[in-house]
Amino acid sequence: SITKMKETTTRSVKHYEHQGPGTVLSYATINTGMIIRAEHAAARVQVYGPGIIRVQIFEDDQFDESSYAVIAAAQGVGFEINDSATEIVLTTTQVTLRVSKELLSFKFEDQQGNIINQDETGFGISMMGNDRTIYKSMQPGERFIGLGEKTGNLDRRGSGYTNWNTDSFAYGPGSDPLYCTFPFYIGVHHQLVYGIFLDNSYKSHFNFGASNDRFASFTVEGGELNYYFIHEASVADILQSYTMLTGRMEMPPLWSLGYQQCRYSYYPEEEVYNVARTFREKKIPADAIVLDIHYMDNYKIFSWDSERFPDPKRMLTGLRKDGYEIVVMCDPGIKIEEGYEPYRDGLKEEVFLKYPDGTNYSGEVWPGWCHFPDFTNPRTRKWWGEKFQSYLDMGVRGFWNDMNEIATWGQRLPDLIEFNFEGEGGSAKRGRNVFGTMMCKATYDGTKELLQGERPFNLTRSAFAGVQRYSAVWTGDNVANDEHMLLGVRLVNSLGLSGVAFTGYDVGGFVGETSPGLFARWISLGAFSPFFRGHTMINSSDSEPWTFGEEVEDISRNYINLRYRLLPYLYSCFYEASKTGIPVSRSLAIDYTFDSKIYEGRYQNQYLFGPSFLVAPVESYKDLAKVYLPKGNWFDFHSGVLHHGEQEVYVDCPLTHLPLFVKAGSIIPMQSVVQTTKERPDPMLHLHLYGGDEGNFQYFEDDGTSFQYQTGEFYQRNISLKSSGDLLVLSEVEGSLESKFESIKLYLHGMPAGAFITVNGQSIPTKNEVVEFLPAISNFDPVDKFGEARTVTARVAEIQNSRVSIEVGLN
Ligand code: GLC
Repeated sequence: SITKMKETTTRSVKHYEHQGPGTVLSYATINTGMIIRAEHAAARVQVYGPGIIRVQIFEDDQFDESSYAVIAAAQGVGFEINDSATEIVLTTTQVTLRVSKELLSFKFEDQQGNIINQDETGFGISMMGNDRTIYKSMQPGERFIGLGEKTGNLDRRGSGYTNWNTDSFAYGPGSDPLYCTFPFYIGVHHQLVYGIFLDNSYKSHFNFGASNDRFASFTVEGGELNYYFIHEASVADILQSYTMLTGRMEMPPLWSLGYQQCRYSYYPEEEVYNVARTFREKKIPADAIVLDIHYMDNYKIFSWDSERFPDPKRMLTGLRKDGYEIVVMCDPGIKIEEGYEPYRDGLKEEVFLKYPDGTNYSGEVWPGWCHFPDFTNPRTRKWWGEKFQSYLDMGVRGFWNDMNEIATWGQRLPDLIEFNFEGEGGSAKRGRNVFGTMMCKATYDGTKELLQGERPFNLTRSAFAGVQRYSAVWTGDNVANDEHMLLGVRLVNSLGLSGVAFTGYDVGGFVGETSPGLFARWISLGAFSPFFRGHTMINSSDSEPWTFGEEVEDISRNYINLRYRLLPYLYSCFYEASKTGIPVSRSLAIDYTFDSKIYEGRYQNQYLFGPSFLVAPVESYKDLAKVYLPKGNWFDFHSGVLHHGEQEVYVDCPLTHLPLFVKAGSIIPMQSVVQTTKERPDPMLHLHLYGGDEGNFQYFEDDGTSFQYQTGEFYQRNISLKSSGDLLVLSEVEGSLESKFESIKLYLHGMPAGAFITVNGQSIPTKNEVVEFLPAISNFDPVDKFGEARTVTARVAEIQNSRVSIEVGLN
């Protein structure tokens, strides 16, 4: 057995604790791939698709079949296996896998025979005590991106990381680990890209050439080496394959894309009404008020504090009438208290995590000593899910899954705690990293079932790969400073590189005091984040958009308005993410993978919001920003000025103007401002077209609340700019729904448009119009520090919306 630490030799080199797998003894073809036996280990190789190969290394004759992350099955087709004196070769149409017989190890090549990824030839697979590691040769110039919510650079080369979900209050820009585990990275070298997803929930370590110049490695502290190798033509295609394996989100409710206002905590109910009313009075759009732990009776989940909230149903009914939804905090700890129903009933139903001696584990958190539901037990998930009936009856539609790392005072969940793992059993070593995701599954599946067709909104702090099927993710307890604001952007973009599209950070910063300038910048950035929520900690100063003075209030209104105007665009981007796994916030590494500039210094913070907007985050104290524009042509969103790509530009960035650029060839659907997504926008769609290149946009609408879109109740059409932007084609509408918009106003930016355009052959006149995306803010200060409004002029024309295809000649 190899679990003993003994002295062995491989190729006449003596080892001590390191144990390699040894030479290959035999192999057998199976339906989905092959099983290879070597001296000290065996491997199963399975084909999941032409570019997806799963490798498992195990030492006894058992391999792990269960996974909380992967929902796809291996395919028994599309590969061939051959064998020579030195190698076993498995080939698909996209990948050749060469398994060396001398020392069991793996090498992946593309169709041209280029090495994509290869086990380190000296010590590819290593078993040391309970640790299992795969060492991969670092290729010349190789970069590594992904790994989800991890601090550090976009290119992770030179860094190492640990996956161990942790309550990381007030983490810093170099802290590791944080709250989530996404053991998935993408390697980039020689115009090639590949992904590796390590599907193992034990504590794991990734090393991308940290303290060495030879290898990139991943180690698990328990369980099996079980990874998926993915090779596709582009990062976007890899994300598609990765989310084919681990799933994609369903469409979240439209309201959850609106602005959400949170604090720790709003109470009593008058305070909630005040906040809700103030948004409406000040005409700042908002869709949700979030209730943090003080709504509960002594922080006990499923209860309400009857003094602060004497009649939650009445409050919710009133707020919902005013266009708000309410999101409530859901902490997993169940207070140990006689007479508390979830405790009593949880004991009876045996839903809690246990010590090996069968007693329930107790840990201390907000309510005091608690037991914790074992969400890896299907019975517990059902029990938990059903408890949401009372919230739903009151009208709650949003659920915030927090403290699910599991956070307990002392932050040392004992390793020997036992998890059910769908009856299979496992310790906290295996269970900890998936606890949060399984809590989300219980909350999502439970509320979804009870809502009978209405979409719940779910948010979580802790997660594991695959969480996107159940919840949005926010980046936990950040700090109110500029560095953290930029870090949040990188975390969100990295989550997007790991299959999670619905993500965001606490706007304004959770810990510490936000300055007016910082809040202004953060909220403008937050408007370009998939999940958009302001939040701040207990005992901090108020942090709503109107609490920092009139200028900041105006800036906040401007950007929240812009967010709401962009909803047709944003909603379509969410739909794309739900279909393909391509995130809403897109690291430039997705589209400009081989451009070395995008990994540099501050440029690594830049991202595309959907296909069209390039956002260049900048500190609040800077009024001049250096921006790198990648390949293509780019319009300054605020001024309309056109810049060529592949160059650095300087732009003014007073707090009123976050640097934003629009890619030439973009098609951006917008609507009129609404105060809440419950309000119907004007029946005119504003379609902004940016000339100079071809482009394409998948436009999508549905009812925003139900799952009927999954059975055809949607309104979808492809909109494209052809012939270098001279021709606009709106394809015939698919789906059974009618659009909210009866007419379409076209805005032609950067196009040499004449006085007429043609619509399906008929000529109609155009006129010049001044477009103000961000109106000038009120001039409160005689020494005008915020500068003048910026406007662009576009040629405009209105056309009727119709379901048949529309061809518009633009020149
Ligand atoms: C955790 C959450 C934070 C919340 C607080 C109180 O720290 O991360 O967002 O406000 O708990 O519930």
